[in-house]
Amino acid sequence: MLRRLHHEQPESFAFTPENRVWAEAQITKYPEGRQASAIIPLLWRAQEQEGWLSRPAIEHVADMLGLDYIRALEVATFYFMFQLQPVGEVAHIQVCGTLSCMICGAEDLMAVLKDKVAEHPHLLSADGKFSWEEVECLGSCSNAPMAQIGKDYYEDLTPERLGEIIDEMAAGKVPVPGPQNGRYGAEPLAGLTSLTDYDSGKTQYNASAQLAVDLGDTVKRIDGTEVPVTTPWLDAKTRAGKGKAKPTAPKKTSAAKAKAAEPKPAAETTADKTGATKQAAKAVSKGKPATKPAATPSPAPAPAKEKKPRTMTAPRKSGADDLKLIGGVGPKLEATLNELGFWHFDQIAKWTEAEVAWVDARLKFKGRITRDNWIDQAKTLADGGETEFSRKARKGK
Ligand code: FES
Repeated sequence: MLRRLHHEQPESFAFTPENRVWAEAQITKYPEGRQASAIIPLLWRAQEQEGWLSRPAIEHVADMLGLDYIRALEVATFYFMFQLQPVGEVAHIQVCGTLSCMICGAEDLMAVLKDKVAEHPHLLSADGKFSWEEVECLGSCSNAPMAQIGKDYYEDLTPERLGEIIDEMAAGKVPVPGPQNGRYGAEPLAGLTSLTDYDSGKTQYNASAQLAVDLGDTVKRIDGTEVPVTTPWLDAKTRAGKGKAKPTAPKKTSAAKAKAAEPKPAAETTADKTGATKQAAKAVSKGKPATKPAATPSPAPAPAKEKKPRTMTAPRKSGADDLKLIGGVGPKLEATLNELGFWHFDQIAKWTEAEVAWVDARLKFKGRITRDNWIDQAKTLADGGETEFSRKARKGK
């Protein structure tokens, strides 16, 4: 199959400010001179932001990495996960057509997609909201047949259910991903046959579907505000820079950094298997630089000041609150909060910004408190009210 750039291209591409910070942080994960290795995550984020990879997006990423455009084009056109044509405004549906799914009815699912979306893969539906394609095994064979829609898996599908999901999405809803036939995960449909008394500390949905519900990013175009950037090495540098009269190593100038970031090997070194050196040497002999200087990453935002909130050594006599009624708090996070000395909604409801920063620094999923709005949820619950999440969670018990 030929993979070409689409015949219609937008004028330009730019990352959202948050995605730009994220992308620059990814570049710092690679050793000096190997920043080009960040190409796949950066192209992927460009696609997550726009839905597909346009030529301006590919070239923008190449510019950030100091790569010749052809090198970025080679990557974008090689991997099928990169969409080179516009996809549905609401969702791109990737239905698995490999053995298990095929045996269990993938062809019937594709018939629905042909009927409801478009006769052929990679075409837009009449309203522009959907597109679809057949893909290879997505590793969810025990829940066949299945499809990936946006970021998440919809499993144990029937043609009817797939049709309903498309209708719901067209109406602006995002049905809960995961098994669609009542299974929790991949256990037998009739229920567990062994380990029946095993207490897994279940959340309402299985871990993957729960995360999708918590983050709400199933078919969302990613703008970088969903999950905080986790680059502790940059945060550590920022903190060290703020320390009182602490001797620090002399800082490299930005020109020195840009020079160090230039991809190697250079023209005079031995060519590697990719032929990169040959290309570099040719480009130099034509009087143009082999590569463009990589963009210098801007510093990550300074971490908020921390202050330890008031904690308790044990819950009040009336008993601990069920902190899992706060959307985004599962059994593990509840246990961590208890260990830190938080047992009640009213404790969480009183956290200040600095106290949120203190707790956040001690949680595995940083940024979750603000993202999931724990404080407002805790205030409502502490006042005896209910949130949409707590209502659902109580029903699911
Ligand atoms: S065969 Fe469809 S997920 Fe594996």
